[in-house]
Amino acid sequence: MQETRFIPKAYTSSIENGSFTWSSPSNIALVKYWGKKEHQIPENPSVSFTLDNCKTTTTLSFSKKESSDDFSFDVFLDGDKKDDFKLKIEAFFKRIEAYLPFLRDYYFKIETSNTFPHSSGIASSASGMSALALCLMSIEEELDVDHFDDYFFQKASFLARLGSGSACRSLEGDLVVWGKHDEIDGSSDLFGVKYPFEVHQNFKNYQDTILLVDKGEKQVSSTVGHNLMYGHPFAQERFKQAHENLSSLISVFKEGDLDTFIEIVESEALTLHAMMMTSMPYFILMKPNTLEIINKIWSFRKKTGSKVCFTLDAGANVHVLYPKNESKQVCGFIKNELVAYCQNGHYICDRIGFGAKQLTIEN
Ligand code: DP6
Repeated sequence: MQETRFIPKAYTSSIENGSFTWSSPSNIALVKYWGKKEHQIPENPSVSFTLDNCKTTTTLSFSKKESSDDFSFDVFLDGDKKDDFKLKIEAFFKRIEAYLPFLRDYYFKIETSNTFPHSSGIASSASGMSALALCLMSIEEELDVDHFDDYFFQKASFLARLGSGSACRSLEGDLVVWGKHDEIDGSSDLFGVKYPFEVHQNFKNYQDTILLVDKGEKQVSSTVGHNLMYGHPFAQERFKQAHENLSSLISVFKEGDLDTFIEIVESEALTLHAMMMTSMPYFILMKPNTLEIINKIWSFRKKTGSKVCFTLDAGANVHVLYPKNESKQVCGFIKNELVAYCQNGHYICDRIGFGAKQLTIEN
C-alpha cells in the first residue's frame, strides 16, 4: 500500500473556522516496536492493548488566515501556553502537510490535557498525537474529500504515526497491530489496524495497573532509543523474533492460553531492555525497584498460580497485567507488596479500552 493514497484530491467545500475535540487513549505494547526506518516505518510489527483511563483530550480550534505562508498555531497544556511544545508540533505539521494541504491556511489553537500527570513518566505522545490527528481529520471531513471505506480512522492512524510511531495504535480498541505481518490480513507499516482474528474471553477486560517507579523525564528519548537499533549487533535477530512472537500470539489469543501469553509478554519487555543494555552507547533504564517488583510478581505467581505478569516501556515503570477475574486478588497483592516500590506510592489503575472518542462538534 502506498502513502499517496492519503494525499487528498481537491477539496470541494470550504470552512472559515470551527473547533473539534477528541479524547484519545494511551496504549501498552505486548510485542514491542523498537527500531524504525525513514518516515516512521517500523522495523518490525507490534501489537498493543489500547488503554482506557490514561488519555489525552485535545480541542483544536481553527480560523482561516489571510495568507497561507507559515504554519501558525499555539499550544496549551491544562490552560498554560506551552511554547516548548511548538517545535515538536511544527515538525509534525511539516511531515504531514503533503497529506493535509490545508494546514497553512488556518491559525490553530491546540488545547490539550492528560488524565495522567505530565510528570508521571507515562509518555503522552501516543495519546497526544492520536488526539491531534483525529481533530485534523475532523477538519478534513468538513472539506469534503473523496474517500475510500475506513478512510477516516486509517488516515488518522497514518498521520498519528508520523507524529509518534506508537500513536498509530491509539485510535481504536482493544487490540491493535501496526506493521506488516504475513499472517495478519490488512496489517500495514503505514497505520494501525484492529487485530482481525478471534480473541478468547480470557483477554477481554484485561487489567493494567501502572506502577510509577520513576516519575522523572525519560532518560532516553524514543528517537535516541530507536536509533540505537541502527548497527545494533542483535538487531536482525530481534526484528525476526518480533514477527515470530506475533505469530505465536495468534493462537494464544484464540485459545486463551495465558501461560504462553505471559512468556511472550515478559520476554518482549526484557528483550526491549536487553536491546538498550547491549547497544552502543548502552543504557539501563530499569531501577532497582523495577527489579524488586518483577521478582515479587514472579514469586507471587509461583506461590498462588495467578496469571499476573508484567511489561515495561522504555523506562523504569512497570505495567502489571492481569485478567479481570483476578482483580481482587492481584489488587490486594499490589497494595500489600508492590506499592512500597512506587515513587511516593503512586500507581494508576487502567484496563483495556475501546479507543478514541469525539467529544463535541461545534461549527
Ligand atoms: C518502547 O512511539 O514513542 O513504547 O516513533 O520515535 O515517537 P517514536 O517512538 P515511540 O516508541 C515507543 C516504543 C515503546 C514500544 C512500543 O510502544 O511499541
